[in-house]
Amino acid sequence: MKVRIKGINSASGKIMLPGDKSISHRAAIIGTIANGVTEISNFASSADCASTLKCLKALGVNFERTDNFVRIKGVGLHGLKEPTAVLDCGNSGTTTRLLTGLLAAQPFLSVLSGDESLNSRPMARAIEPLRKMGANISAREGGKYAPIVVQGSTALTAGNFVMPVPSAQVKSALILAGLYAEGSQKISEPSLSRDHTERMLQYFGVDIQTEGLLVALGKHRQPTGRKMSVPGDISAAAFFLVLGAFRGDGIILSDVGVNPTRTGILEYFQSAGASFNLAGQRDTCNEPVADIEISRSRLSGSKISGPLIPLLIDELPVLAVAATQALGLTEVRDAAELRIKESDRIKAIVSQLQKFGADISECQDGFTVNGPVQLKGAECEGFDDHRIVMALTIAGLLASGETVVNGCECVNISFPEFFDRIREICGHECISFE
Ligand code: S3P
Repeated sequence: MKVRIKGINSASGKIMLPGDKSISHRAAIIGTIANGVTEISNFASSADCASTLKCLKALGVNFERTDNFVRIKGVGLHGLKEPTAVLDCGNSGTTTRLLTGLLAAQPFLSVLSGDESLNSRPMARAIEPLRKMGANISAREGGKYAPIVVQGSTALTAGNFVMPVPSAQVKSALILAGLYAEGSQKISEPSLSRDHTERMLQYFGVDIQTEGLLVALGKHRQPTGRKMSVPGDISAAAFFLVLGAFRGDGIILSDVGVNPTRTGILEYFQSAGASFNLAGQRDTCNEPVADIEISRSRLSGSKISGPLIPLLIDELPVLAVAATQALGLTEVRDAAELRIKESDRIKAIVSQLQKFGADISECQDGFTVNGPVQLKGAECEGFDDHRIVMALTIAGLLASGETVVNGCECVNISFPEFFDRIREICGHECISFE
């Protein structure tokens, strides 16, 4: 399916975002291994989180789902059952890596697999440290790619892990396996990645401490079921923040998660001179939440690198779109991880924004953009990558004339309501499908 987009002059309105995808995955997994019932409201509408629920169901878990409300009858740490078929993780790296950690500690065999993109993403980063705990895991091409075969073991040993790259998925896999391991489990990262697993385990009563870049599991490791309300997804909000920075005439994003390990996009906006405001800051289930108001501003180029990268890794494709409208040079560096996401996001965004006339070029670990440039509508490819399709849609709304993005159905992976929300604030006629 392709989407046809017309450039717009103004956008306004209040937007509710889907529940945060990273937090929803974790709520489903931790609710499953909790004692007692967990009720999750504003559970993400994303296909990725549906993949996690489907895998948990195959592991013998009972849950009820009505729209974005999920009720899970937890089975406790030791109540999972051997699946009778391959666990289908779809397109979801988070499902695959977190479940690999959890299943490494179960007394049964599991096989995890997914679509073509997922099965070409690196899995050794999670498998190798788990093997050091005594896990028995094999995977395609000598342990590199899914399908992954996990022969679970009830005799994992804890250890001290120093992670070579900041990755919340790998850290979470090690934390989940650590819940079952003998001894004290300590994990340190080279720079901070999202900390939702740590926060949620604390909220579910587990003894887990964090200090700077270090996470340590204490003695009490059995989660207890809780009521959980998922904040709006800041990674989904990012598309509207970029649109609002150039076309906004009163855009408010309600109930957005503003966990400091996710707000790199706001730090970028601050350094580029964008005008936004956080109101009603509060804590919900151990996660900070706020309403964000964004207005049109003049942005300047800036450098984004180092420890800021993991805090906005998923927002970099749409940040590239913002950079085409900022005055001067924007430089993104230390972001080679972008090449191993759902697509090679450096190649994808650079090659497609060039079609709009953007002055953008690729480097090994990022890209550079010179702006501002008046974008011109173009026909472009979405690379079966939800964040590329949504970023190009924003480029199309900022461009003159008409834009076509091919392969737009993959927005379902993280944000099925994306085009509806765009129409609500930009007008129905700016989006049509073929
Ligand atoms: C995620 C962590 C990030 C991010 C992904 C979701 C998570 O990946 O890019 O979309 O939920 O833990 P890495 O941890 O591999 O960097």
